[in-house]
Amino acid sequence: MSTVANLPDSMEPLQHLLANAPAQIDATESLADLDALEAELVGKGSPIAQARRGLGGINDSDERRDTGRAINDIAAQLTELLSTRRSQLAAVEEASALTADRVDVTLPGRRPRRGTHHLITQTIDEIVDIFVGLGYTVAKGPEAETEFYNFTALNIPETHPSRLESDTLYLDYGERDEEVLLRTHTSPMQARYMEEHDPPVYIVVPGKVFRADAVDATHSPVFHQVEGLAVDDSITFADLKGTLAEFARQFFGGDTKVKFIPHYFPFTEPSAEMHAFTNGRWIELLGCGMVNPAVFEQVGYDPEILSGFAFGMGAERMAMVRHGITDLRALIDPDERILEQYR
Ligand code: DAH
Repeated sequence: MSTVANLPDSMEPLQHLLANAPAQIDATESLADLDALEAELVGKGSPIAQARRGLGGINDSDERRDTGRAINDIAAQLTELLSTRRSQLAAVEEASALTADRVDVTLPGRRPRRGTHHLITQTIDEIVDIFVGLGYTVAKGPEAETEFYNFTALNIPETHPSRLESDTLYLDYGERDEEVLLRTHTSPMQARYMEEHDPPVYIVVPGKVFRADAVDATHSPVFHQVEGLAVDDSITFADLKGTLAEFARQFFGGDTKVKFIPHYFPFTEPSAEMHAFTNGRWIELLGCGMVNPAVFEQVGYDPEILSGFAFGMGAERMAMVRHGITDLRALIDPDERILEQYR
């Protein structure tokens, strides 16, 4: 390190400072270290600043000038050393920041877990798809329904027990002309759809239905149905049987046998239950029948010209029969170990 020529004696401490500075500066490991050292070497409280303040006390003008120059020279050298080190440290800090931020593009990505439709949804979709394949379209109706569409329009008498609060969940909207309830079946869409559309009608209606039941192995206050309605000018019971037998073959397998057992529903006449032979036994699958002329009259269809059939099935029931599930609660339980089996 250069020294300063013709140095007055009073410059001895500064000379010493300059001699030690390079080692000190080199020893700094960060910009923060360097800032601290800079304050110490050339800052306001540094020996250099003190020496500058002492200049005024030197009476001899030559000596004052020489001393001033010497101080400036030392200060300039220190500043130069500090600034060189500053560039070095800045480069090192930038390099390590870049390393820390580096993204390893060769790492394998994190795969999100793949979701799936619930078995009930899959079942509804499959049922609907079969009927769409037979030329039906999909219609949807409201879950909050009026007493008229849920019961009256379907020829269900005022005194029918299913209208009781013990069976049906009524909604309280205060004083109104008509009771509003949670639909107990998807059948109300039969009347709603026919009111809005001219024949022919070929629709399926999937959706939620509600009943005042507690949950057990075969009951739930909320479940799903798929309703069907076909109305045209010459539909017979043979069409009903052929259509639903074809549905059973597509849903359960090519050689599935079905049989129709007489039953009673107010909105169909005659009515039947369709049973299918699966897993070694006969099992009831759905309700069906020829649309009751009284329903046609309610919606302004001419029963002299038109005929049709209707059916309604429970989606949970279809899934349970197909998969041999004996407890409905397995479908409601959000336990992934159960649901995973039906991916
Ligand atoms: N709505 C009936 C129920 O919930 C099922 C049903 C039976 C629907 C016969 C129909 C039908 O369309 O024709 O039990």
